[in-house]
Amino acid sequence: MTYIAPSILSANFAHLAEQVGLAAAGGADWIHVDVMDGRFVPNITMGIVVVEALRRETDLPLDVHLMIVEPERYVERFVAAGADVVTIHAEATPHIHRTLQMIRAAGAKPGLAVNPATPLDWFDDVWQDIDLALLMTVNPGFGGQKFISRSLERLERLRARRDAENPRVLIEVDGGVGPANAAELVGRGADVLVAGSAVFNQRASVAENIAAIRNAVAS
Ligand code: DX5
Ligand code: ZN
Repeated sequence: MTYIAPSILSANFAHLAEQVGLAAAGGADWIHVDVMDGRFVPNITMGIVVVEALRRETDLPLDVHLMIVEPERYVERFVAAGADVVTIHAEATPHIHRTLQMIRAAGAKPGLAVNPATPLDWFDDVWQDIDLALLMTVNPGFGGQKFISRSLERLERLRARRDAENPRVLIEVDGGVGPANAAELVGRGADVLVAGSAVFNQRASVAENIAAIRNAVAS
């Protein structure tokens, strides 16, 4: 089973509820919410109040990707706001284990993310504490960037470790994902495909864009 998680970072923020509705009607499995603080990454996006507002608009799981420093200060509030999955960055806190435990205790699924040059060793001691392993395939901060091709080899290594350590963990890829590389990513181990600009663009409808990814995976 491959999950498609449109990232609303590339959606029209002035019409967020409508955009999420289009994604849901088009067959999205999760809604990916990119939270940026202007410190961990050089961009500022949305926060707790937006998650709260989205929760009232959709029944789809909200997959919240925290690109913020010291996520331990905020994870419980994101869960209370309605996040189903809360993913923190390994590089953003000295308290990875504590923060993953906080997410679980608050009632959400904990995820750990790594940037493109962060060693996969960071996962070694948390396989039992996470439900999601997020492999960044661009440098976090912006939508519409080019997929970093070295990520394919990293994905294979991550999958091998996941299979050995905790097969229940889902592997998510994020950045530069679309119909052109979706099948290869799934073949190398991705369970969840995040796609922003490939879904929310003016080239085709949101539903057509999601279908293009799903068809690519199926073929
Ligand atoms: C990047 C975000 C991604 C982003 C992906 O920092 O984490 O979720 O929205 O956008 P695309 O799919 O356009 O690369
Ligand atoms: Zn993301």
